[in-house]
Amino acid sequence: MSNIDTRLNVSPVPPDEIFALNGAYAVDPHPQKVSLGVGVYRTDDGKPWPLPVVQKAEKALVVDDDLFRHEYTAIEGDVPFLGIARDLMFGFEGKQSEEDAKARIGSVQTVAGTGANHLGALFLAHHMKPTNVWLSNPSWANHQTIWELAGVPRKTYPYYHAATRSFDFEGMMSSLESEAQEGDVVLLHACAHNPTGLDPNKEQWVAIADLCERKKLFPFFDSAYQGFASGSVEEDAWAVRYFFNNKPNMEMCVAQSFSKNFGLYGQRVGAFHYCTNRASVSIRDVVVNNLCHLIRGEFSMGPRVGCTIVKKVLTSDELTADWHEDLKVMSSRIKAMREALYNELVRLQTPGTWEHIIQQNGMFSYTGLTPKQVYALKDKYHIYLLKSGRASISGLSQKNVAYVAQAIDDVIRNEN
Ligand code: LMR
Repeated sequence: MSNIDTRLNVSPVPPDEIFALNGAYAVDPHPQKVSLGVGVYRTDDGKPWPLPVVQKAEKALVVDDDLFRHEYTAIEGDVPFLGIARDLMFGFEGKQSEEDAKARIGSVQTVAGTGANHLGALFLAHHMKPTNVWLSNPSWANHQTIWELAGVPRKTYPYYHAATRSFDFEGMMSSLESEAQEGDVVLLHACAHNPTGLDPNKEQWVAIADLCERKKLFPFFDSAYQGFASGSVEEDAWAVRYFFNNKPNMEMCVAQSFSKNFGLYGQRVGAFHYCTNRASVSIRDVVVNNLCHLIRGEFSMGPRVGCTIVKKVLTSDELTADWHEDLKVMSSRIKAMREALYNELVRLQTPGTWEHIIQQNGMFSYTGLTPKQVYALKDKYHIYLLKSGRASISGLSQKNVAYVAQAIDDVIRNEN
């Protein structure tokens, strides 16, 4: 760029794979194109699904005609929303006995899950100065970007055992055991690991919590799929709640997103929760003030509309029950599509083993397809998935699953 008249010193950066793929899919005119790229819920007709409960809440909000609905919130965000978000994540039910536990948590509103991850990374980079952050290998690609921008050196722990297509628990534990240093951050996916769809079981979570406590590591949970993965908000929050309740001498934090579980993708609804340990409860408000300092300098406060919808739903027993039903609809359809793809591949006797597709959890399947096969699927069949082989299962439907299975069968059999 030496002959360009600019004061900038910029080098090309690779486009974000997920959204570049989404853009390419949108302009592809092929009638049978299939999007298995970005993690968004789609109906069996391939359409977006504004959750029925969200539509109900929106209508009720219009009727309410709240004069304050477009006003500024506090810098930390909508305070009642934050209490509701915290209670959902940590399982508080409004009992007096929970007050001490609640007092350990400082919460602020964020620009959805990405914003919560980013704010948390920035906050820890400024105020904890970890030597490293440990990300699973593989992880959501944006985790790398977020921590890179926060200026914290990134290391990875093994997570995926390619030969068996299973969670590499031993690899994760031995790597953190031998290499992680006191004060390092360990990024953990609360449920529905993105991209592998493989989560630790409860016994393994207990061992991970013990290891973090013993080695004085700082657990940073990314919770993007609470209720969406299993259909149960309790089940999907199990790991976060276990760490919080059973390791009260450990500090930790949670980045919470409402994009998937409320289908509020573009509304950017999220929260960041910092959990002090039992001995540091008194710094909670200082933590929140420092988070607010960062928020004020970046975006002043989180957006209002989406969190108002979440608040409307979660403050009504009737709407909350409706929401739980909507979660079941989404998680069941994804499970059904996993089964359908698996059945088709088995029926076609596609070379390889495919049980992993039904064993994995959440939005994604880590199919095991190679970059070359992924490229062939796009080139020949207009089927879009990430080059790692990650497929967003929600892009499958009764109408296209046979087409997709046939295409996978073809690219595997006719490689070279
Ligand atoms: C994904 O992984 O596809 C989603 O979480 C969307 C995103 O922001 O990357």
